[in-house]
Amino acid sequence: MMDITLRRAEHSDIPGIVAFYERESDPNILRRSAREVANAVDLGAIFLFLERNQIVAASGAFAIHFREELYFEYGGTIVTRPFRGFDLQDIFTSARFCFGVLFYPESIPDRVYTFIKPDNAPSNENIKGRGFSLRETAPNPYMRPCGTCKSRASLPPGRRCCYNIYGIDMEAIRRNVRYFLEASAERTSSKGMRLEITSTLFRDARQRAILHSVIA
Ligand SMILES: CC(C)(COP(=O)(O)OP(=O)(O)OC[C@H]1O[C@@H](n2cnc3c(N)ncnc32)[C@H](O)[C@@H]1OP(=O)(O)O)[C@@H](O)C(=O)NCCC(=O)NCCS
Repeated sequence: MMDITLRRAEHSDIPGIVAFYERESDPNILRRSAREVANAVDLGAIFLFLERNQIVAASGAFAIHFREELYFEYGGTIVTRPFRGFDLQDIFTSARFCFGVLFYPESIPDRVYTFIKPDNAPSNENIKGRGFSLRETAPNPYMRPCGTCKSRASLPPGRRCCYNIYGIDMEAIRRNVRYFLEASAERTSSKGMRLEITSTLFRDARQRAILHSVIA
């Protein structure tokens, strides 16, 4: 049995998270600068699974500031190999929606998007399973990097971005909140590995009350 903890990243975690992303860098995830990581941590929007105080998985909601509004891009999800197959990406996704409901309710559902490479099968499946749906495009603040993207000229007709673009609706967000509140702490992978999760996220009574009211 492996024991892991789920918690929100704190300011003192920043160097460890930057090192984790360097070490585990994966062609499927967009590289984030140390500044982007620090900003997301300080917003309270990076979540970590740790085993014996070592980061074994990370995920975040990265804010784009545009005309007084915050747009969130869900990204930066890496689950290291020994911890794959326990649906930890699903827990991250549902935790990020709880974060949105509690702290940035004005941004949901229309200012939350995620972008996934078309050939990243596990991630596309997970994100659709959490209720995200494919969109042709996203609001302008998300699409600005496409303007200078090298792949732009070779995109098939009708395709606006080399990543799949996913948005979500309110009903699916509620389902995510329910998923988070009801997620089992004990998990078994298809290979028979067992995992026990201790979560310190959104334990506060007032926060629990808000989350429960959303799914009532
Ligand atoms: C995508 C990712 C976060 C999913 O991790 P996860 O939450 O553990 O995935 P799941 O629990 O849904 O895994 C379901 C099954 O797919 C398998 N799987 C998961 N990721 C896999 C991968 N990258 N390659 C092949 N198989 C994978 C799991 O082993 C599991 O198999 P099982 O059903 O036989 O047990 C993880 O693969 C990862 O960190 N990949 C690299 C970075 C990345 O792609 N990030 C997301 C960018 S959008």
